[in-house]
Amino acid sequence: MPSVETPDVSSIDPTLDLFAEIDRLRKEKKAIILAHYYQDPDIQDIADHLGDSLDLAKRARDAKEAEVILFCGVHFMAETAKILNPSKTVILPDLDAGCSLAEQCPPEQLRAWKAKHPDHFVVMYINCSAGTKAESDMICTSSNAEAIINSVPKDRPILFGPDKNLGAFLIKKTGRDMDLWPGACMVHETFSSQKIIKLKAQHPGAQFIAHPECEDHVLLLADFVGSTSKLLQYVQEDAGKQYIVGTETGILHTMKKHAPDKELIPVPYEDRSAACQGCNSCPHMKLNTTEKIYLALRDLKPQIHMPEELRQRARLPLDRMLAIS
Ligand code: 13P
Ligand code: SF4
Repeated sequence: MPSVETPDVSSIDPTLDLFAEIDRLRKEKKAIILAHYYQDPDIQDIADHLGDSLDLAKRARDAKEAEVILFCGVHFMAETAKILNPSKTVILPDLDAGCSLAEQCPPEQLRAWKAKHPDHFVVMYINCSAGTKAESDMICTSSNAEAIINSVPKDRPILFGPDKNLGAFLIKKTGRDMDLWPGACMVHETFSSQKIIKLKAQHPGAQFIAHPECEDHVLLLADFVGSTSKLLQYVQEDAGKQYIVGTETGILHTMKKHAPDKELIPVPYEDRSAACQGCNSCPHMKLNTTEKIYLALRDLKPQIHMPEELRQRARLPLDRMLAIS
């Protein structure tokens, strides 16, 4: 269902130079533009800061001069910005930019799960709503998840959600006793190990690098597993020449910029017969467009709002995460 605030891009004068207008408006409104690596290349290029979920949360928290934070990402990211920096006007170009993980673990279901496991420590992946964060003891991102799990007192069993794939990866890495919420990312769970094996055979010199939101059978094939920023860093610093990239396709734009001499092969790769031709593209992230960014800056909406009591409860587990990140 489209939200009531779906921007009307048909009202935009087609002769406008949108990039010049966005630039003018960002200065006029004292706005900072934060963008995730999964945004379209044009959006990545106009951002003041580009990053993974953790970098962007810190940028939002530390945005002192700006009056407006324009978040080019998905709803939970913009909500996190508002939780961490509530005096700013936080706008998201399209309020319908959700996340399959966030949708799969609403706060009332987490409350019921906690009630069955009263002794457990609750770590939730940042890909969840403010309401779900407010029910958690600690938040993590894919960049800091291992350190966060290792920081939980050794005598406490852990409830981890909403991503069962990241959770299973963390159990292997840390050896901790964790119960997993059965959520998954709609993009990363479509990657097929058979296609990756085929790609590896076609490109014997290539390394396969993957995001930990991928399923276990995919991660077993990976030469390196990491968050978006860690994948980017790996491609830049590693001595290899070819990489099969197991994450959302948007990041290839910045990888190419920072490592122009490397060959990057997206998963799935040029398989025109595949039913999931666009399945490495996140439909939520891709709801943001330059037209919607222009409207959001011009009208300062759609804005992120939440009750103050909820914001304060959601802030606690985020602050605990940031204290050790
Ligand atoms: P990171 O950029 O933090 O690795 O997260 C990936 C993701 O799926 C964001 O929704
Ligand atoms: Fe959510 Fe997956 Fe899209 Fe990230 S890529 S925003 S986890 S649906």
